Amino acid sequence: MSAYICVVVLTVSALGGATVVSELLSRPTNVRLTSHNLNLVLRWDPPEGTASGLVYTAMYKSSVTDYRIGCENTSSLECDFTTLKISPYGNYTGRVRAQLGEESSNWAESNYVTLDTDTFIGSPTVSLSSNGATLEVSIQDPVFSISTLRNVYNGVTYNITYWKKGQNEKARSIPDIQQHRLVLSDLDPRTKYCVQVQINTDRNPNPSQHSSITCESTANEQEAPWVAAMVAFVIMAVVVALLVVAVVYWKSISQFLCPKDALPPHFEESLLARPNSNMYLNMQSPVEEICHPISIIAGDRTVEEGDPLEAAGSSFSQQPDVIVEER
Ligand SMILES: *[C@@H]1O[C@H](CO)[C@@H](O)[C@H](O)[C@H]1NC(C)=O
Ligand SMILES: *[C@@H]1O[C@H](CO)[C@@H](O)[C@H](O)[C@H]1NC(C)=O
Ligand SMILES: *[C@@H]1O[C@H](CO)[C@@H](O)[C@H](O)[C@H]1NC(C)=O
Repeated sequence: MSAYICVVVLTVSALGGATVVSELLSRPTNVRLTSHNLNLVLRWDPPEGTASGLVYTAMYKSSVTDYRIGCENTSSLECDFTTLKISPYGNYTGRVRAQLGEESSNWAESNYVTLDTDTFIGSPTVSLSSNGATLEVSIQDPVFSISTLRNVYNGVTYNITYWKKGQNEKARSIPDIQQHRLVLSDLDPRTKYCVQVQINTDRNPNPSQHSSITCESTANEQEAPWVAAMVAFVIMAVVVALLVVAVVYWKSISQFLCPKDALPPHFEESLLARPNSNMYLNMQSPVEEICHPISIIAGDRTVEEGDPLEAAGSSFSQQPDVIVEER
């Protein structure tokens, strides 16, 4: 027997080639191509009667392309094709072979997977918020590896199932909901309800995985809107009252807030004392002016001048700052 193997190996080696297809190395088993949320992963089991040190090469192809390498000489038992160029609508298949040194097994082929119709759609994420005796259900789509749920499928609907906690057998379902949000309004107040959601699509025959069960209590029916209105009314009334008080008693309030401080007496004295600057006096109460017309004869021109004091006074009053600074 061992002599026979030796002969086979020698014969095949003699035929040449870097990789040798050997009947000694059997193919990987249980090869399956799977898709979850539009990823594409090939998985396999080692060949029967495994030797250690096996590596694998995995390839994939769509119905319109040739085989391309996904993973080469990997010791792992799976190969993820998702990051390679794949289309959400493609029909894919994969194959894998085992290698031990220079020897290779035959290819083991997988099933076909058409991504959009075969992928397993994961569970949506559900959150609840209570508002009076109603519950608002918010649904988040599962994240897809390539594209998004709503880009891939034209028809996406949610099947919302809800029940009073502990009464699962009386669950009610609302199918064909297209929006991400829905208000459940036929609920009892002050009661805990549980909600679970599943996604249906137009092209994938299987619904998504169920969401995890989320529970929330409703509030008292009357309380919430009535209390909110009351609080709003009280706040408005207080604001209006404060405004009225502020307007009516503005003087007292401003005196209270900004009291007129008494100045030290010597400040007041110096401020009230008659200023003894001549210019200031001139500006304040012009003294009675005596005007005499004068004629200045310069060369062959005669200039009639008005009141020199008035001219001086007006120039002073135009530039009081300058004068103060000059002092
Ligand atoms: C994989 O292994 C074969 C055989 O040992 C070798 O020829 C090839 O270069 C390897 N490829 C990579 C990518 O390591
Ligand atoms: C995918 O391609 C294979 C091979 O061409 C074919 O047998 C199979 O029916 C195709 N699947 C779909 C869903 O078109
Ligand atoms: C909605 O979900 C409920 C509970 O899982 C199920 O019984 C019902 O058949 C579903 N309806 C649709 C239209 O998917």
